[in-house]
Amino acid sequence: MTETRDLNKPEGSPDVEASGVIPSRRNFLKFGVSGIAAATVSTWIPDSVVAAQLTTEVIDDEGAPGAGERRIQLTVNGQLHKLNVPANAILLDVLRDRLQLTGTKKGCDHGQCGACTLLVNGIAINSCLSIAMQHDGDSITTIEGLSQGDDLHPVQEAFWDHDAYQCGYCTSGQIMSAVALLNDPNIGTDDDSVKEAMSGNICRCGAYKNILAAIQSARGKMGGTV
Ligand code: FES
Ligand code: FES
Repeated sequence: MTETRDLNKPEGSPDVEASGVIPSRRNFLKFGVSGIAAATVSTWIPDSVVAAQLTTEVIDDEGAPGAGERRIQLTVNGQLHKLNVPANAILLDVLRDRLQLTGTKKGCDHGQCGACTLLVNGIAINSCLSIAMQHDGDSITTIEGLSQGDDLHPVQEAFWDHDAYQCGYCTSGQIMSAVALLNDPNIGTDDDSVKEAMSGNICRCGAYKNILAAIQSARGKMGGTV
């Protein structure tokens, strides 16, 4: 495979990729960082931070919940979090703003684009429409939880191999929906069934052909597990 030039890095610029500040296209698939606009220190999560998160078993909010708040437990990417959140807090906002898991994107915020897709107990949902306290006790997987260290999930690897993204804003949602459908025995394996299952994920760049090719190539490499 011939690696394409990193479009986030202007030609002739110093190699700052190794510093962890500028995401490579491969790390982009691990964390769902969004293109040039998101290639900043504030939204990029270095490997060292993620590794620390994975080795920390519990993170607690200090104290009892305040007025209008609820205390909830979420297992996110295998890590248990105990949080106090407003009763009307949206799951997507809790993940992005409280847990700094910014790989899951907010697109339409109305359940129509699929950019916010993640897995709850293995089922793909639109997290922008989901109240966080309704997921007390649930197990959540986001794009940051798919890879095993440096090893990309087969679907991430397939998106890489098939260049299945352009701006990348939709990509984490596309990948999470793809993982869910490939684990769902009730969804057919033909192209039309995959297109139908992915119809809730909009790609404004029109990368649908490559996304479909990536999903089909990932089939059979997943071993039946997320
Ligand atoms: Fe949730 Fe668009 S941001 S569906
Ligand atoms: Fe740009 Fe899908 S790659 S919106």
